[in-house]
Amino acid sequence: MYRYAQKLHQLLRSLLILSLITATNAQAAQKIDLIIDTDPGADDIVALLFALASPDELNVRALTTVAGNVRLDKTSRNARLAREWAGREEVPVYAGAPKPLMRTPIYAEDIHGKEGLSGIAVHEPRQGLAQGSAITYLIDTLKSARPHSITIAMLGPQTNLALALIQEPGIVQGIKEVVVMGGAHFNGGNITPVAEFNLFADPHAAEVVLKSGVKLTYLPLDVTHKILTSEARLKQIAALNNNAGRLVGDILNEYIKGDMEHYGIPGGPVHDATVVAYLLKPQLFSGRSVNVVVDSREGPTFGQTIVDWYDGLKAPRNAFWVESGDAQGFFDLLVERLARLK
Ligand code: BDR
Ligand code: CA
Repeated sequence: MYRYAQKLHQLLRSLLILSLITATNAQAAQKIDLIIDTDPGADDIVALLFALASPDELNVRALTTVAGNVRLDKTSRNARLAREWAGREEVPVYAGAPKPLMRTPIYAEDIHGKEGLSGIAVHEPRQGLAQGSAITYLIDTLKSARPHSITIAMLGPQTNLALALIQEPGIVQGIKEVVVMGGAHFNGGNITPVAEFNLFADPHAAEVVLKSGVKLTYLPLDVTHKILTSEARLKQIAALNNNAGRLVGDILNEYIKGDMEHYGIPGGPVHDATVVAYLLKPQLFSGRSVNVVVDSREGPTFGQTIVDWYDGLKAPRNAFWVESGDAQGFFDLLVERLARLK
């Protein structure tokens, strides 16, 4: 009888240990292995602080930088500043493409300021760039990654990933999903009447990514223009009373002015940060699987995303198009995460 009880006890103990191991593995498996491709950029910095403050869900493997809002040397410095401010200097920053695939480079200094960071002072960060280019980093990492294991948050023109795909199409095997901030359908554009900045800045690159067959999610202006700052939301950020809150507050207070004036809206969008919120809490957002093409022909529709929302063409649905989001849910999550930083 005693031996029987002892055996049962041993069995129960092994089962408990097994279930603990399984739970830990499941938690680890749920973490998103993430590369953030970015052109900081005021809203990029908010997105980077947001992501780097969320290590339980996001395993940020690297930041890769691209020319976009400002020149590559400045976006690369600003990305290094973001990791310094987040206390995450172990995350490598690789500099990538200094110009788009084919078109003449454009910048958005009028919105983001000469240094690419509205509302705050910049300095030379303590840590330098990682050795090697972002394109080589993407190729090496995605080629050797477990099948469909790495997510790419695409916060600027898509030049780096396009170059990597052109050089080594096989890297698609390592990509789980590419989550893009870019494009516009219902909202209209922000750089031309129909084009959004990131797509307009390098439509040929966006085309390469669209045609590669990777799983794609787009967070276009349609959704980012529904998630606006307000006085109350800016107060939520100011009340954090930490350095991250002060930085984000100062950046946003300046950054939102342009859009508020241009569109006559009561607050400003924080475009790139919606990608991070989508990764952390997709239930805050809704959208539809659609067929998307990018117009890369010269002319008034250059850079426009053409979205078959009603499936009139019966063409393959190559992207999930996020159309709406919970604005207060977004700001609550952002504030909760910024509170974790210094
Ligand atoms: C996008 O363009 C850039 O200026 C912002 O950083 C964002 O990625 C919004 O259209
Ligand atoms: Ca950006």
